[in-house]
Amino acid sequence: MGRLVICDHPLIQHKVTIIRDKTTNTKHFRELVDEVAMLMGYELTRDLPLEEVTVETPVSKAAGKTIAGRMVGLIPILRAGLGMVDGVLQLLPSAKVGHVGMYRDEETLQPVEYYVSLPTDVTERELIVIDPMLATGGSANAAISLLKKRGCRPTKLMCLIAAPEGVKAVQEAHPDVDIYLAALDEKLNEQGYIVPGLGDAGDRLYGTK
Ligand code: PRP
Ligand code: URA
Repeated sequence: MGRLVICDHPLIQHKVTIIRDKTTNTKHFRELVDEVAMLMGYELTRDLPLEEVTVETPVSKAAGKTIAGRMVGLIPILRAGLGMVDGVLQLLPSAKVGHVGMYRDEETLQPVEYYVSLPTDVTERELIVIDPMLATGGSANAAISLLKKRGCRPTKLMCLIAAPEGVKAVQEAHPDVDIYLAALDEKLNEQGYIVPGLGDAGDRLYGTK
């Protein structure tokens, strides 16, 4: 079973509360999603390998550690996943970004794939799939499956808010993927929205509807 990590640093909890608020405007919403993604990046990068190095301080030699470098790829699920990419890139500036376009059919709640574009060396990278909302888990599962079918290694799924139903669905379908969340909510409603959630993440990020 993959790990479930709730990134509940006070700064993240504070910002997620404002993100949820329906009176938060599009500009502020977008900025906060970006900031939370960056803060979650600390937890996401906790297992980066280090190597020992020596530097010369003005006083003497000092043993230290630097990041050994790991080939990482970020895979936002369009559209809403795009809102979290820049925040993570601030911490992992050499990560490459692939895009998977997926929307949820409003009636069936089934994911519909409409676009895939991946870096040429994607199979050599450890991939982080990014989407602010994990509701039924259909979109995340479809994205992870399509990456695996192409010989890729998706190891982490990063979301802002999840419903327990979505977490369970991903853990069952992809027990090799760790899930990182800012908040685990109560349930899904009859329309497949996360309760209390934040509404439609794509619409709130881009001011549509
Ligand atoms: C939202 C969200 C996820 C999906 C989650 O995307 O960003 O991709 O729904 O729901 P699920 O877990 O039940 O699949 P949406 O379909 O609204 O598309 P958008 O990002 O283009 O707005
Ligand atoms: N997609 C969203 O954007 N919000 C939800 O609550 C569920 C799916």
